[in-house]
Amino acid sequence: MSAPAKVYVVIYTVYHHVHKLAVEVQKGLESTGVQTKMFQVQETLPESVLKNIHAPPKPDLPIIRPEQLNDADGILFGFPTRFGSMPSQVKGLLDGTGAAFAKGTLHGKFAGTFFSTGSQHGGQETTALTTIPFFTHQGMTYVPLGFPPQLNDNTEIVGGSAYGAGTIAGGDGSRSPTLKELQVAHIQGQQFGNLIRAYVRGKNAFAAEESSKQ
Ligand SMILES: Cc1cc2nc3c(=O)[nH]c(=O)nc-3n(C[C@H](O)[C@H](O)[C@H](O)COP(=O)(O)O)c2cc1C
Repeated sequence: MSAPAKVYVVIYTVYHHVHKLAVEVQKGLESTGVQTKMFQVQETLPESVLKNIHAPPKPDLPIIRPEQLNDADGILFGFPTRFGSMPSQVKGLLDGTGAAFAKGTLHGKFAGTFFSTGSQHGGQETTALTTIPFFTHQGMTYVPLGFPPQLNDNTEIVGGSAYGAGTIAGGDGSRSPTLKELQVAHIQGQQFGNLIRAYVRGKNAFAAEESSKQ
């Protein structure tokens, strides 16, 4: 029996906007039949700082270890921007994948990204771009979102871009992901899940064909 397609959703969030998107991303993935599991990245801010910034308790999710990334066929990373870049917590996770680099265990896997920013022009696209060198160095394939119709709707503010789903939290964090932003997150999960399922199916068929020749 060949291995089923597996996708991890790996998030970092302080005020849960990214978690709300991730829930929809995961529903989209599940609709394609891939196996999926959500993780969060280890927090590095001390409790005293989290208290000062009025951070709510973290979502109830297991904390991912760098070597666990090797177990998935594809990984969708979600995180809020920090000055137009990925948060240091996420960079810390990625910097922990030296062993994977040495062994090539992330090579050939697929990755995508989704985001939250405080403001409409706060850097969703640049945040996506800060992940590309990591994926490239590891030999991973970056899977963009493209433009689902919601992203071409100019009648209201819609977070996200061709790089991935997104929401705009507001300067005080009071804005929640809108229906359209959640729809885009669902579509991203669905597109990514379909890709990974097709890829794994093809890989399994190829392996079976090769072994039948021996
Ligand atoms: C140190 C720091 C830097 C930030 N930099 C930006 C920024 O460059 N642009 C922006 O729009 N929001 C910025 N924000 C706001 C966060 O992106 C916002 O709190 C986040 O999107 C909320 O997502 P979450 O609820 O998942 O934590 C920053 C927040 C912090 C704490």
